[in-house]
Amino acid sequence: MFNVRIYGAGSIGNHLAHACRKKKWNTVICDPDDDALSRTKDSIYPQRYGAWDNEIVLCNPPDAASKPCDLVIIGTPPDSHIPIALDLLNNHKHLPKIILIEKPLCGPGLEGCDELQQLSREKGVLVCVGYNHVLSRITEIATEYICSGCLGDPQTIVVNWVEHWGGIFGAHPWLAGPSDSYLGFSQKGGGACAEHSHGINIWQHFAHLLNAGRISTISSVMDREKNAQVDFDRIVQMNVVTENGLVGYIVQDVVTQPAIKLLRIQGSDGALEWQINKDSSHDSVRLWRDNEWQETLVAKSRPDDFAGEIDHIEKLLQSRAENSPISLQRGLETMMVVSAAHYSAQQMRSLKINYNSRLTPDSFISNL
Ligand SMILES: NC(=O)c1ccc[n+]([C@@H]2O[C@H](COP(=O)([O-])OP(=O)(O)OC[C@H]3O[C@@H](n4cnc5c(N)ncnc54)[C@H](O)[C@@H]3O)[C@@H](O)[C@H]2O)c1
Repeated sequence: MFNVRIYGAGSIGNHLAHACRKKKWNTVICDPDDDALSRTKDSIYPQRYGAWDNEIVLCNPPDAASKPCDLVIIGTPPDSHIPIALDLLNNHKHLPKIILIEKPLCGPGLEGCDELQQLSREKGVLVCVGYNHVLSRITEIATEYICSGCLGDPQTIVVNWVEHWGGIFGAHPWLAGPSDSYLGFSQKGGGACAEHSHGINIWQHFAHLLNAGRISTISSVMDREKNAQVDFDRIVQMNVVTENGLVGYIVQDVVTQPAIKLLRIQGSDGALEWQINKDSSHDSVRLWRDNEWQETLVAKSRPDDFAGEIDHIEKLLQSRAENSPISLQRGLETMMVVSAAHYSAQQMRSLKINYNSRLTPDSFISNL
């Protein structure tokens, strides 16, 4: 049985608390906002999962920090992720084995990422970033197909991760709109590029599986909304090339309804489609071979989206194996692409990402 401390009694804090409680882990949720703590107990948790769980401890962050734990989950707005993680690593006596930081890791400025990477190594604390879809059942099935070699040589990967953010505001009825949270500010980790960065991350995940390497070149366009209240990207379209020359594209937006969360790999001998929420209760993997689709539907509900991630964290807590598809390194790779996409759209040119530089956009992004 593990001890978990979750920062943030919001939407993701509740999802991950529920996933931890399914494993019977001791779970503390902390938040400086008393309204958020009350909302968790009185509405979010019981409405989503049927009843409040009296074993969950609700408190403020200083009270939570006084007790040692195995796992810290940071489920707060993106611009607070790195400051909370650095404070833990720099100032706390009892360090957890793992810190799981929600996506996106931070804003596109990547402030504090160098220090986080260094402290994680120095203090021996494994840091992960919560791109949960790489740990879903359909990703396992797609991986088996890819490893069987049935697709032949990879030709391209394309991703559409396009979803009107009405669903997010539906889950946050206390917010009046994007201006009320980080969502309406690209620099704080909101907007389509960072908020829907699951799209970039799943593209990168499958590129790694296909031995195509990291994204090294990017050219992007954005549709931005900027006024006195908000400043965010509504649509981002990214053309990318990997270190080994694989060409593809990623589209993310906060305007499309109904949503599409679809990755397609074209190989020389076949095609594969990986799709979240193919219908209201299934994810899907389809394989195109011999002129027909073979489809596997995987039944799932919203809580199942986090089960694979927490199963994986459990294995990491038990074994300390460091080879993880949600490692800090992978989360940083995704943020470097988010950052480069913003620069490319602003400068209207293709840019190169250098993975051997310091983690500041001025250092790792260069002209082609
Ligand atoms: N992986 C997923 O599918 C998924 C789903 C939802 C949200 N998220 C991510 O989770 C993060 C949070 O999103 P959300 O929708 O839960 O936000 P939210 O607004 O519902 O909740 C965030 C909570 O964090 C609290 N908070 C702020 N600073 C804090 C601190 N220093 N210590 C403790 N609590 C603090 C706020 O008071 C708030 O209650 C975002 O990065 C978001 O992108 C991921």
